[in-house]
Amino acid sequence: MANFTKEEIDIVVVGAGPSGMVVSACLNKLGINNVVLEKQDCCAYLWKNKTYDRLHLHLSKDFFHCHLCHMQLHHLNEYVEHFNIKPKFQTCVELVFYNSAEKKWNVKSRNLTSGEIKLYASDFLILATGENNEGYIPKMVGIENFKGEIIHSSDYRSGEKYKDKKVLVVGSGNSGMEIAFDLSNYESHTSIVVRSQIHVLTREMVYTAMLLLKYLPISLVDTVIAKYAKFKFRNLAELEIPQPEEGPFSVKISKGRSPVIDVGAIDKIKLGHIKVLPGISDIKEHTVVFDNGDEHQFDAIIFATGYKNIPTKWLKDYSSIFLEDGTLINWKGENGLYCAGFSKRGVPGISMDAIAITDDIKTVQKV
Ligand SMILES: *[C@@H]1O[C@H](CO)[C@@H](O)[C@H](O)[C@H]1NC(C)=O
Ligand SMILES: *[C@@H]1O[C@H](CO)[C@@H](O)[C@H](O)[C@H]1NC(C)=O
Repeated sequence: MANFTKEEIDIVVVGAGPSGMVVSACLNKLGINNVVLEKQDCCAYLWKNKTYDRLHLHLSKDFFHCHLCHMQLHHLNEYVEHFNIKPKFQTCVELVFYNSAEKKWNVKSRNLTSGEIKLYASDFLILATGENNEGYIPKMVGIENFKGEIIHSSDYRSGEKYKDKKVLVVGSGNSGMEIAFDLSNYESHTSIVVRSQIHVLTREMVYTAMLLLKYLPISLVDTVIAKYAKFKFRNLAELEIPQPEEGPFSVKISKGRSPVIDVGAIDKIKLGHIKVLPGISDIKEHTVVFDNGDEHQFDAIIFATGYKNIPTKWLKDYSSIFLEDGTLINWKGENGLYCAGFSKRGVPGISMDAIAITDDIKTVQKV
């Protein structure tokens, strides 16, 4: 058990998602010594890998567009090289606590390949595990009563086993829409809950917009693309799919919410092969009750409800920064603890967080 090494370092960054990399890039520019620990085997793992086997076209990931850092997924490797970011992959953070005698963060990490344990002692700890970490299934009334299958979209592989089954997809983002489409192709009796306002675009519209965005302001691109979408899809409100007032790319920037890239689900909805349902008010043994009072029977519910971060599982001294359920209180905690990219401010939020954190570290620099 004496099989571990120890290293002193100025800063430990946990997570090599977009936030972790931007923070590390900012620190490297200032010549501040840092290490990025990532349990997966590549950067921005969730963007690259958390799509199921049939479709890999969450385009939203490719046009992740960062004004300050000019980062796009296909440029990610260049970005990583340019700023000399060297994440330690397949390195899982198992336990972190503040050692007040040493005045250091003690980070216990495990190399998932070799099983080797490494301890880091750092002055600062930056959590950049992202908001999307573990499949999130909301606590819905009656969910524990349901006798059918309940899964999260990240565990969905294919619609094959749902042939002739009644399946409810909860969540109308890209994952939800793609899964509904896939299910319907496998002749499952598919319904989808649409509660939030969404923009629906085609892949071509997104490509067009990406070109236009090089030359035109977002507001203008939004207007053009919204017209194009309206022409293509007609009246989505009639299909019970409400649209935001704000344009598709403005929403992406301000709220971090990507437009839904239609892969065919809208046609299926128009044909009545996928049924759109309102919010859920109750879940019973075999049925679900909806906000409009209707009750339908289901064999399975698939939650395409996103991901949730859970640093409180391994971080002992989190109370200055998170509530017990992982809700963020503050981007800056005690003893040099920071959170990057949890702010739900979308794309600019990532850069703003990184800049605020590095500025703060510069000023309190014990390093
Ligand atoms: C995730 O995706 C990357 C890039 O496409 C690939 O190199 C890596 O092996 C994938 N990892 C897993 C676990 O699928
Ligand atoms: C983890 O262990 C493997 C096998 O010994 C080694 O090749 C790899 O470089 C180690 N990873 C890190 C991040 O140190």
